[in-house]
Amino acid sequence: MATNKWYIISIQLIIFVLNKVNGQTLSTVSCQPVLKNYFDYLTQPHYNVVRYLSIQATFILENRYVAYYAGSLNYVKSVDSLNGTVTVSFSDRTWTPSCGLLFCPVQNFGYKNTDTQTIAINRLGAIQFI
Ligand SMILES: *[C@@H]1O[C@H](CO)[C@@H](O)[C@H](O)[C@H]1NC(C)=O
Repeated sequence: MATNKWYIISIQLIIFVLNKVNGQTLSTVSCQPVLKNYFDYLTQPHYNVVRYLSIQATFILENRYVAYYAGSLNYVKSVDSLNGTVTVSFSDRTWTPSCGLLFCPVQNFGYKNTDTQTIAINRLGAIQFI
């Protein structure tokens, strides 16, 4: 089923991204065979269907804050790479829900105060965050 395939691809990419950023917490796997699956998936002929990869990841920043990334990647033929954008929210950016007369505590991950980052991943596993 298409949905299951997407799920597996998303999970694999999360593992891959986590490995790149925080290699000491997961055993290292070679990027190229893992990436080959994504490149194949996105470059196979598929009439009338737009394919992309959904990606999500969390990172710990400065051992204190959490960043949450969610977005998607597309294949860019001219540069043979997976490019896309992610929206990033951070645990140290807060917001206060409006609860009328009730007291509402401040919440983390302010959803109105996110960053947008561009990500490009090549076949060799080099990741560019812009
Ligand atoms: C994809 O990313 C590469 C590397 O950052 C960049 O040179 C290229 O212009 C990007 N292409 C698109 C269509 O975003």
